[in-house]
Amino acid sequence: MTSNITPRIEINLQKIRHNAKVLKKLYGEKGIQITGVVKGVSANLEVARTLVEAGITSLADSKIANIKKMKTSGLKAKFMLLRTPALSEVKQVVEFADISMNTELEIIQALSAEAIRQNKIHSIIIMVEMGDLREGILKEDAPSFIREVLKLPGIQLAGIGTNFACFGGVIPTEKKMQEFSDFVSEIQQEFHIKLPIVSGGNSANYTWLMKTNDIGLVNNIRIGESILLGRDPASGKIIPGLYPDAFCFFAEIIESKLKPSVSSGIRGRNAFGESVSFEDRGLIRRAIAGVGRQDVWVPGLTPLLPVEILGASSDHIILNTKHIPMKPGDEVAFSLNYGALLSIMTSPYAHKKYLHQSSEKCDSLKKTSA
Ligand SMILES: Cc1ncc(COP(=O)(O)O)c(C=O)c1O
Repeated sequence: MTSNITPRIEINLQKIRHNAKVLKKLYGEKGIQITGVVKGVSANLEVARTLVEAGITSLADSKIANIKKMKTSGLKAKFMLLRTPALSEVKQVVEFADISMNTELEIIQALSAEAIRQNKIHSIIIMVEMGDLREGILKEDAPSFIREVLKLPGIQLAGIGTNFACFGGVIPTEKKMQEFSDFVSEIQQEFHIKLPIVSGGNSANYTWLMKTNDIGLVNNIRIGESILLGRDPASGKIIPGLYPDAFCFFAEIIESKLKPSVSSGIRGRNAFGESVSFEDRGLIRRAIAGVGRQDVWVPGLTPLLPVEILGASSDHIILNTKHIPMKPGDEVAFSLNYGALLSIMTSPYAHKKYLHQSSEKCDSLKKTSA
């Protein structure tokens, strides 16, 4: 039987601290300051505090509720809203975010009016589209856009930013990064301004960082995944010297039986509207873990034991445990990708357990009767 609560995510703060320190140094040596992106852990305060302790002075999240949570917790950092605010949230954005990313004049005008109302100056970063086709103004529209922004009271244009490899998977190559810096340089010349922040991307900029001899004007990169999971998302590779296993997820077996591998009866669509098919492997050891799609993006889980995920409904993950007999109360450990981490950390049903030694490891064998 298990003494721990499940579903449970174990969070090794020491490993996260190590990753943050190494990346801060790596980027810092090239003159780039990193902003720690905490949306992958739903701005978990223990993790956010760990990043601040590692020397990160700016934290970012895409949800204003998370920015508010961090700001009101007393964390000593600058807080960046990582997504353009919705018109309906400008009041909170001006109140809690030190800086927000923006792409719409109408919204910046609303931020300006709200900043005046709150007797504040709100800083913004204008996001520019460099090919990934998510957020960003087009480069050709930038001069007229910026001209209007610079007229707005209560708004400080703190910087220009761009984003890669989030929607279109577009890689921040040397050429793209050079184009971005050239563009920023043209804007600075045209408007006779020096922008304090030139924010050139995210964890996917790692390869560029390592290879480039010229970072251009970039002085900031917003980093989430490589701090949390030690990976360069563009290549999928682990960054040398970083921990990829700061998080480990545990689910508990609630049923385990020898059952057929193929369903019986006339088959329609399942609860998620999908048509499923089964390979006939005879009787198999089928175990059910008591967690499902309501809590976790199941395709992002990898079992640490040689068992197979057959599928999942909202509250059940169905496993083929192969040669491993399991019984109710046994735990199954999983490693997670970014999507799985994001979902579990957002789920109120997932219990969080903090580990403080980097030597502490997820050990599924320890937790599972063999
Ligand atoms: C605008 C923006 N910048 C940076 C990040 C951080 O990305 P990553 O976790 O790949 O470092 C994200 C995604 O979370 C984002 O949306």
